Amino acid sequence: MSLLELEDIRKVYHLGDVEVNALAGVSLSIDEGEYVSVMGPSGSGKSTLLNIVGCLDLPTSGTYKLYDKHVETMSDRELSITRNQMIGFVFQGFHLLSNLSALGNVELPLIYRGIPSKTRRELSECALEQVGLKDRVHHLPAQLSGGQQQRVAIARALVTNPKLILADEPTGALDSHTGDSIMCLFQELNENLGVTIIQVTHDAKVSEYGKKTFHMMDGKILRIESHNSINSGGK
Ligand SMILES: Nc1ncnc2c1ncn2[C@@H]1O[C@H](COP(=O)(O)OP(=O)(O)OP(=O)(O)O)[C@@H](O)[C@H]1O
Ligand SMILES: [Mg+2]
Repeated sequence: MSLLELEDIRKVYHLGDVEVNALAGVSLSIDEGEYVSVMGPSGSGKSTLLNIVGCLDLPTSGTYKLYDKHVETMSDRELSITRNQMIGFVFQGFHLLSNLSALGNVELPLIYRGIPSKTRRELSECALEQVGLKDRVHHLPAQLSGGQQQRVAIARALVTNPKLILADEPTGALDSHTGDSIMCLFQELNENLGVTIIQVTHDAKVSEYGKKTFHMMDGKILRIESHNSINSGGK
């Protein structure tokens, strides 16, 4: 079943007199349970695309259907419910709150859902354990390394059991060993729990964890490459 469908999506930014066509007509369809990568040079529109897929931003034109619902017709409230209930984000550059501990940051999306504090704490500790940060729960972001902050951001995306994970350079700040372990975690979520994953990466090896890669250039998808997924082959 198709989870999401984008049809001729365009995003134009106006900066003074200059028009930036961040997305210049993107059409794609992603099925439930797919694992896809997005690659392309800096400025090619990858984050813009992810923000639109994640209902954080609306396109200038085009149609976007998520579970057969037209996103462009949703109210702000419907958009935020969709985001909170279906989607886990790992942003490029973490977006952690500096005055909250690792645990506090991971708990945030659960607070928005009205989950009671004891359950919140248990779920958040479990998510931090999944990303290998069991012994860092009370650290503030400034007391964590870049890679550890990245993992807190991943735990925060996982903690609500989202159907769709959107990750912008999830391994960009990690050494290759930690990066591999995060990719294995993504693969497990995808294969065992059927979580749909869309990840942006500049690393060809990381892209191969997905089943296919969308190659972007100048706001368009140039080509789609299929992979024999690294790990499913070897399992
Ligand atoms: N808020 C904005 N206002 C104006 N232009 C923007 C805005 N956000 C992005 N752009 C422009 O849109 C284009 C696409 O940006 P985007 O962030 O999607 O690129 P990207 O592929 O994610 O790049 P990177 O690999 O560097 O993260 C760029 O040319 C950028 O300058
Ligand atoms: Mg980007």
